[in-house]
Amino acid sequence: MRRGSIVRVTIYGVLAGILASVVAVLVPWLPGSASEEMDRIELTFWFTTVICIGVFAVVAAAIIYSILNFRASPEDESDGPPIHGHTGLEIVWTAVPAVLVTAISIVSAIVLAKNDDAGRNPIRIAVTAQQFAWKFEYPGDAKVTSGELVIPIDKAVKLTLRSLDVIHSFWVPEFGQKSDAVPGIETTLVITPNRKGQFSLVCTELCGIGHATMRAPVRVVEQAVYDKFLAGGAGSGGAGGDETSGKGVFTTAGCGGCHTFSPAGTDAQVGPSLDSIDPEGAPLEDFVRESIIDPNKNVTQGYQPSVMPETYESTLSDDQLDALVQYLVEGQK
Ligand code: CUA
Repeated sequence: MRRGSIVRVTIYGVLAGILASVVAVLVPWLPGSASEEMDRIELTFWFTTVICIGVFAVVAAAIIYSILNFRASPEDESDGPPIHGHTGLEIVWTAVPAVLVTAISIVSAIVLAKNDDAGRNPIRIAVTAQQFAWKFEYPGDAKVTSGELVIPIDKAVKLTLRSLDVIHSFWVPEFGQKSDAVPGIETTLVITPNRKGQFSLVCTELCGIGHATMRAPVRVVEQAVYDKFLAGGAGSGGAGGDETSGKGVFTTAGCGGCHTFSPAGTDAQVGPSLDSIDPEGAPLEDFVRESIIDPNKNVTQGYQPSVMPETYESTLSDDQLDALVQYLVEGQK
């Protein structure tokens, strides 16, 4: 290869590399990180991306050079020169990718191990997934439960994921970590938030008709705010916290994931609206109670049966059920 050719191939490679780098840097491919785990995931992502850009630049340079220099003229129908392999080249294009892939797997293995390590004394929060809601139970004597995940900044949190029905998946994009909630087993997930703010937990496993509405607010707060929240939800401004008020039950049981109910500020349309319930001649309170514990008995016209879980009789206490019924009855228009 002549010197002029080497210079040209190098220029093509540099240009292709710059172009790919611009695309990699300027497009916001990932949400802004809000946890130490996501920082490490980003590191892996960028490590891999830099390697990819390098490989792309080399391949693009070879292609561009070949297109410009070895193009056959339109009349030329002769055969190209016969080529019988090139041992040196084959060793190089096997060895280089092998080294790169090994490097990526080492970095990934270290990140995976670190992201699974909650340290010595993590905050343990039990997460229960159910069609179509999330519930969080916090450690401590107050037995605080909420429909909003509230966690303190810069503390490792170990989530234990359970599902009451089908497979769901826990994912807060800014936290990076993701894990399925599988019926019958317990899975765990470690999160160490390092940015305060309001985020959104989304279910990322198709789990039924209300899958798209299976979201929950997530709040990363100062330790003092978290302590206050644990002490009984005072000043927490949380969506839940108060397990025995009708509104609290409505939120933590996930009713808002499927139903519109103005007093609770929900507008989902998986199930019928609860703003003006038609008891079909029965006493309203009895009708509401029966519809919660045996939802398939009176299915509103236009809605499918067997969508609403039949588990509320066992998962709600008598007090909670009473409060929920009252809340719904009082909220009628
Ligand atoms: Cu739960 Cu999708």
